[in-house]
Amino acid sequence: MQKLRFMSTIFLLVAFIFSAQAQEASQVGKLDSKMQKALNEQINAELHAAYLYLSMAAYFESKSLVGAAHWMRLQAKEETEHAIKFFDYIHDRDGRVVLTGIKAPPSNWESPLAAFQDAYLHEQKVTEMINRLIKLTGQVEDAATHNYLQFFVAEQVEELMSTKLVVDQLNMIGDSAPGLLMIDRQLGERED
Ligand SMILES: [Fe+2]
Ligand SMILES: [Fe+2]
Repeated sequence: MQKLRFMSTIFLLVAFIFSAQAQEASQVGKLDSKMQKALNEQINAELHAAYLYLSMAAYFESKSLVGAAHWMRLQAKEETEHAIKFFDYIHDRDGRVVLTGIKAPPSNWESPLAAFQDAYLHEQKVTEMINRLIKLTGQVEDAATHNYLQFFVAEQVEELMSTKLVVDQLNMIGDSAPGLLMIDRQLGERED
């Protein structure tokens, strides 16, 4: 009888150890809550960027600068794709997407240069956010997210460069209408 009680205690102990291990295993690979919150904030930032660029597209349309409008429209599409990438990634990591309100963008700018300067400033802010996300992956020891973010690191280099190029060219032409039309034609040639 005593032997039977001993055996059942051992059995319960083994079952307990296995269930604890299984519970621990189910947590491995799951997104850290701080990381999840930051990635959700990134979805919002990307959608805000899309909204901002769409508003700039509307501004350029109103000025008959169809090339710049086309450029901004494609930019807005790209930012929406970034948001969806984060959306999918959160789910891939067994996390939960929570969408929040998107801040309204301005609807008017002093000049095409002011609009592109604003776009450049915004890309700088987004770059800072991506860098902060990378820092957080170190703090919560999340190698997978660190790896995933590398796409966005490269993307930000490209976006900063392409936006600054337009700012520089608009600065170069000053008040020249033919210069502006030339840049607008060039912006209209963007393919993706
Ligand atoms: Fe983006
Ligand atoms: Fe961007």
